Amino acid sequence: MSANQSPPEPGARGRSASILPAGPDTAVQAGRALREGRLVALPTETVYGLAADAANDAAVARIYEAKGRPSFNPLIAHVPDLAAAQAQGLFNADALALARAFWPGPLTLVVPVAPTCRVSLLARAGLDTLALRAPAHPVAQAILRAAGTPVAAPSANRSGRVSPTTAGHVAADLADRIDLIVDGGPCSVGVESTIVACLEDGAPQLLRPGGAARADIERVIGRELAQGAQAGRADEGQGAQVLAPGMLASHYAPRAPVRLNARSVEPGEAALDFAACLAQAPGLRLDLSARGDLREAAARLFDCLRRLDAPGVRGIAVAPIPNEGLGEAINDRLARAAAPRG
Ligand code: TXA
Ligand code: MG
Repeated sequence: MSANQSPPEPGARGRSASILPAGPDTAVQAGRALREGRLVALPTETVYGLAADAANDAAVARIYEAKGRPSFNPLIAHVPDLAAAQAQGLFNADALALARAFWPGPLTLVVPVAPTCRVSLLARAGLDTLALRAPAHPVAQAILRAAGTPVAAPSANRSGRVSPTTAGHVAADLADRIDLIVDGGPCSVGVESTIVACLEDGAPQLLRPGGAARADIERVIGRELAQGAQAGRADEGQGAQVLAPGMLASHYAPRAPVRLNARSVEPGEAALDFAACLAQAPGLRLDLSARGDLREAAARLFDCLRRLDAPGVRGIAVAPIPNEGLGEAINDRLARAAAPRG
C-alpha cells in the first residue's frame, strides 16, 4: 500500500488482538495484514517486535500511538536479507562486512538513507540515516518475505517498559491496541539487537550493546568500536558521536525500584540472582542462570524482571553480573531499569 492510501482503522481499543500460533498460514495472514496497514506483533530471536509497513505513514503512526512512544525516536526497518537492505540504505565497507558476518541475526546497522529508500520519514523520525536489521527468527523471516515491504518494528512493549520475550508479555502490554499477535514461543537471545552506526570512513560506533557481543563485532571490523553518544550519560552530544534517540537513561523499567550489584537482599525486596550469588535470600528469588551462563541470563532477563515486578514487592535487588559477552547488554538494560525515573 502506498503512503497516501487511507488505511483501515486500527484495532479498536477494548477489543483483544488475535493470538495465532506461528505457521505458514499465519505468515501469509500476517504479511497481508502488514500490507493493509495493520499492526502485527511478531517474534524475532531478540525480542518480540510491533510491526507495521515501514513505507506506510499511517501504519507507522499507529506504532507510535500503540506504544505511547515519542515520535522523535526512530524505528528499525526489518528486511529479510542484505539485498533488501541495500535498496533502503547505503553500505560502506564496514557495514557490508558486518551484515555478511551477522545477518540474519541480532545486529542492527545505522547507515545513510539510499535514494531508493521507501521507509517513511516518520519511521526515521526525520533523520537522513536509517536503522536496518535482518532478523534470524524463521517466523520473522517468513512474515517479512510474505509482506514484501520493509517492516518497521520496535520492541512490542509500552514505551519505557520491559521488552517482551513471549507472546504473553506482548498481550499483557498491548492486546487492546493491536490486531494480531503471532506466537513463536520464547525468544532465544532475549535482549535487543546490538546497534552499530556505519556512517563515514571512521570507526563504526556502538550505539547500543545487545545480542551480538562487542568482541565478535570488533573481530569482523578489525578494530575497536567507537562509543556512540548515549542520552543521559556524560558524553551526550559531543563531537561527531551519533545518538540513538531511544537510549534514554530511564528505560526498560519495572514498576518496583531496582538496586544493582546487591550482595544481600533487604526485607520486602525480591532477588534477581546470577550464579546463585543471592541464594540465601529469604523471599522471591529468580536466578538468571544458576550455572553462570550469560547467554542463558540474557534469554531470561526480561521475563524474570516481569515476574519479580509483582504486587507487594517493594524493590528488586540484582546480583552482580560480569560485563563480558552478552553481560554488557544485560548490564546496560539493568542500569536503565535502575536509573532515576524521569
Ligand atoms: O532487537 C531489536 O532491535 C528489536 C527487534 C524487534 O528487532 N527492536 C528494537 O527496537 O529494539 P526499538 O525501537 O525498541 O529500539 C530501536 C533503537 C532506538 O533506541 C532508536 O532510537 C534507535 O534504535 N534508532 C533507530 N533508528 C536510528 C537512527 N537512524 N540513528 C540512531 N539510532 C536509531
Ligand atoms: Mg524498545
